[in-house]
Amino acid sequence: MSTTDTAVANRSDTDQEEQASVSKYLVMRSHLDIVNRKPTFEPFDDLPRYWVDGHKGLTQFNNIFSLVIPEGEKFFIRSVMRVKKDIKDPQLLDDIISFSKQEAHHAKAHIEFNNVLRKHGYDVDGFTKFTKRYFYVVEKFLPAKIALALTVFMEHLTAVMAEGAHRFPELQEGLPKEARDFWDWHAVEEMEHKSVAFDVLTEIGGGYFTRTLTAGIFITLCIISMTFITPVLMILGMMTNRGKDKPAEKSVTLKELEAMRPGVMGEWNKFVWQSFKKYFHPGFHPWQNDDIEYITRWREKNTLRSNE
Ligand SMILES: [Fe+2]
Ligand SMILES: [Fe+2]
Repeated sequence: MSTTDTAVANRSDTDQEEQASVSKYLVMRSHLDIVNRKPTFEPFDDLPRYWVDGHKGLTQFNNIFSLVIPEGEKFFIRSVMRVKKDIKDPQLLDDIISFSKQEAHHAKAHIEFNNVLRKHGYDVDGFTKFTKRYFYVVEKFLPAKIALALTVFMEHLTAVMAEGAHRFPELQEGLPKEARDFWDWHAVEEMEHKSVAFDVLTEIGGGYFTRTLTAGIFITLCIISMTFITPVLMILGMMTNRGKDKPAEKSVTLKELEAMRPGVMGEWNKFVWQSFKKYFHPGFHPWQNDDIEYITRWREKNTLRSNE
């Protein structure tokens, strides 16, 4: 057998292994519905300036997440919708609608959250303008399948962080109730819909190479961006709190986190790394990280607040 034949045979084995694993997890997923809720939160008006346990660096870290989310969610929705016409599976078509509704709710809720950050003096509009342009450029130049593969990877990262937030509730100690409820709700819905983009990519023929190569390129670009672009943004004041103080300039060290949450950070790092690595296994499916327990627990406590 020639080298090319061996490579093709290996690739075919990998694809078959992946397909078998995906079928198994699709069955598991079919037992969990993606709920469209009408989120109702207490207003964020009284949110303290450093709302993560009074810590500047951690607050800024979470604020940046929140600032990226509205445009990020819109990009995720568009990247799934771009290929919806090629989906035949009726369950998956329903899932696409539920996924889009949940992400649209997240975008809207984070815009409200970010309005409070604006009051705290953050350059919310400048940041939003930047992220809008960023996703516009990404969308303009990437083929639909690659843009979707990028969404699949981002959804995996989000789902891992979401599971981590529920698995290690100690990390949320010191958060005001309204902020904790808000992030918990978003995290649960991320876990609920975590396989939708993946299943859509699989149905349109995006396999192991498409998703891992896209993830690899994205990680490389992030490293370049963090090394070269982020300092420029900070100099321009886009990632800093213009005016009185500049929390983005205070980075959070692992030592500092360990001091704040003794014993938890090591477990957290181990969990995140193990879950992250799974993405690069040939037979990966998002439901290999089984977090139904956390979704169920949250649902039991929050039935009154959800529109189930
Ligand atoms: Fe979301
Ligand atoms: Fe999501």
